[in-house]
Amino acid sequence: VILTVTLNAALDVTYHVPALQVGTAHRVPTMDERAGGKGVNVARVLHALGEPVVATGLVGGSTGSEIRALLSGEQVRHSFVDITARSRRTVVVADGAGATGLWEPGPTVAPSEWAAFVRHFTALLKVSQVAVLSGSLPLGLAPDAYGQLILLARQAEVPVILDADGPALLAGVAAGPTLVKPNAHELATAAGVDTVTDVPAAIGAAEVVRAGHSTDLVASLGPNGIVACTSAGRWHAAPAEPLTGNPTGAGDACVAALARGIAYRLPWPVRLADAVGLSAAAVASPVAGSVSLADFARLRRTVTIREL
Ligand SMILES: Nc1ncnc2c1ncn2[C@@H]1O[C@H](COP(=O)(O)OP(=O)(O)OP(=O)(O)O)[C@@H](O)[C@H]1O
Ligand SMILES: [Mg+2]
Repeated sequence: VILTVTLNAALDVTYHVPALQVGTAHRVPTMDERAGGKGVNVARVLHALGEPVVATGLVGGSTGSEIRALLSGEQVRHSFVDITARSRRTVVVADGAGATGLWEPGPTVAPSEWAAFVRHFTALLKVSQVAVLSGSLPLGLAPDAYGQLILLARQAEVPVILDADGPALLAGVAAGPTLVKPNAHELATAAGVDTVTDVPAAIGAAEVVRAGHSTDLVASLGPNGIVACTSAGRWHAAPAEPLTGNPTGAGDACVAALARGIAYRLPWPVRLADAVGLSAAAVASPVAGSVSLADFARLRRTVTIREL
């Protein structure tokens, strides 16, 4: 199976209102509740592709129970470790004009809970072909928490993908993951440059981040597609044209395709075309981070790949 890790899982709540007005009460005609967090989103996309997947991570309290129940309802296999503190909710109020987000701070994880997760993760690695570590770290965990998991995956000879930001990304890279997938902003921060706006800048920044580490790097550049700097070569893969839609979660779809590519040892150009096609399908989908397989098949055919 492909194992996804979400240490700061969330209950994503979306309220749909006709027009949001600050300072007034609103009746909410429709709302959605979904299990969320980046690793959960990766698991959902892989499940949609028919790939065997297990979502793990940390959940707690009443929201933790809801996260589990919602994943079971979607038939996404999961095996989370319980914590005492309550998992966070993310609340989005969506109206015709846009979306307003309210992010709860999330739980604080106790040292004994982290130790329990490390044991659980080690056991799950025995049945995993690839591990995916995605998203923010909850309070209470050291910045090198992902680094610790990466070392365990390497000991178990399980390829591991990291999609993280800031200090968690830098500490993770130092542990030598198989692949990291920053977006343009995360890449710029990690490389210590102001912005990464084009393909040459992405290659320059990627080589700074990879220097001295045995890590392939795939940078996602929004509508400009992806740049891969790997031990096997460098490529730029791009959609035929930028799509209008909802780019939230497109990065998670990209990671899902890369994880599948590693699991099946697909050639790099195939992996990258899958990643661009699948993330474009996520942008085209009305529901953030979900994909239609018909869109994927259609958009995948239009991807252009250039070796650099
Ligand atoms: N407007 C768009 N049109 C077509 N493809 C897009 C568009 N926006 C994003 N993509 C595809 O999705 C991929 C990931 O997007 P992006 O770089 O924004 O990821 P991200 O910031 O990590 O997203 P998130 O973390 O919210 O899931 C891009 O590499 C690209 O292939
Ligand atoms: Mg991202």
